[in-house]
Amino acid sequence: MPFDSNLRYRPYEDWTAEEIQAIEANVAKSPWRSTLHIEPQRGLLNDPNGFSYFNGQFHLFYQWFPFGAAHGLKSWFHTVSDDLVHFQETGTVLLPDHPLDTHGMYSGSAMQMEDKLFIFYTGNCRDAEWVRHPYQNGALMTSYGDCVKFDKPLITQPKDTTDHFRDPQIFDYKGQYYAIIGGQDLEKKGMIKLYKAVNNDYKQWQEIGNLDFANDRTAYMMECPNLIFINDQPILLYCPQGLDKSVFGYDNIYPNLYKIGKAFDPEQAAILEPSELYNLDYGFECYATQAFNSPDGRALSVSWLGLPDVEYPTDHFDHQGVLSLVKELTLKEGKLYQYPVEALKNLRQEPVVLRDMSETDNVYELEITIPAESKSELVLLADQAGRGLRLEVDTQNGLLTLDRSQAGEQYALEFGQTRECPISKTETTLNIFIDKSIFEIFINKGEKVLSGRVFPNADQSGIRLTAGPISGTYYALHHGR
Ligand code: FRU
Repeated sequence: MPFDSNLRYRPYEDWTAEEIQAIEANVAKSPWRSTLHIEPQRGLLNDPNGFSYFNGQFHLFYQWFPFGAAHGLKSWFHTVSDDLVHFQETGTVLLPDHPLDTHGMYSGSAMQMEDKLFIFYTGNCRDAEWVRHPYQNGALMTSYGDCVKFDKPLITQPKDTTDHFRDPQIFDYKGQYYAIIGGQDLEKKGMIKLYKAVNNDYKQWQEIGNLDFANDRTAYMMECPNLIFINDQPILLYCPQGLDKSVFGYDNIYPNLYKIGKAFDPEQAAILEPSELYNLDYGFECYATQAFNSPDGRALSVSWLGLPDVEYPTDHFDHQGVLSLVKELTLKEGKLYQYPVEALKNLRQEPVVLRDMSETDNVYELEITIPAESKSELVLLADQAGRGLRLEVDTQNGLLTLDRSQAGEQYALEFGQTRECPISKTETTLNIFIDKSIFEIFINKGEKVLSGRVFPNADQSGIRLTAGPISGTYYALHHGR
């Protein structure tokens, strides 16, 4: 169904039960629904939101447009989890039902405050002339999902930004609450603002200044900034839209990158000695990553495996977007590692020695070792002719190549059908997670990651080891959320 802006911003209550049933019937025909990953029942999912720990459980929301594969009027869809592997839909959806979020409850974060979950989000409003007015709003949710929004915005648009000002992330640094917000300055360059909670009261915010992280000022907007701390070192994750490719090469329409700092100086609004830029993910889509320091001591992250302004094969079936697996972030010898949380191992069924398989159910994990000085190749989601998702691991030259050109339905062709990732010229391990139309590949237990979507044909479910020495284990994974 083509979505013009009338349809995208049509009030939720105007969608009839018959229309919703028709959308659901269409989703049910989709051959590409996931089994382990968070995916909307219908409509479009984008950014993860409000990833937090509250009342003894993890909470994870996502941006949701419920009526088809379009970026329309957004709400926050709520899930909870005990183990960060199984997520339960609670039935709570935070709706754009307030004068301060008339055109969408946009992205934001959450943190427990006393016995409530504080939700810090962007209220997207547009006036009669379709001029955007972004408000950084607050709300308090009880464990039962009742949510009371504040009457006044917590932060309004600063004088030195355009209307692109959104995605507040609250964080606690040494007992003081701060927030960062992504924006665009008056010269249309991306920037990040730092705020401090006055008297440590999350209802009162004061600007400290523009965050200094050696911003190259080539991007036009910084979406979804997150600042987390590992061993007291700040890691800034963000999405610099329009970043000049001479500053940092990337293939996807929009990148999701990070910098590691030596220290954080909140009074000066500075990340001290920021590193160069690094790619968070070398695959075809990974965006709007949300990370937080969990009270259990872990730094956790989750991403949208999708991108803005890209059409997906699932659009015909009225659904789009999934969230990644939840990953734990660690620093080893100054390098960021991202690896699925330990509890994911509980999904493994009996280990089977990896060999050619003509048919699987496309829900599994592979744990593979490739020796140094070799060139190996395998094809996943393979048909009888060996066409599928091709992975070449070259430890002679230090390069991993992923090619999805033979893997089912093609899309986003202008951004290329292959991705490359530099690897070390040593023995290399891969943990590969496949879930119907999702792949997540972790090199050397998270030193590098490649994630993305692939939309196989009905006969593409095999595994082929086509070249070089490959040894490993195949684990079918238990389904269910
Ligand atoms: C990133 C983003 C955010 C915004 C949200 C709206 O994908 O554009 O900046 O808050 O999506 O859905």
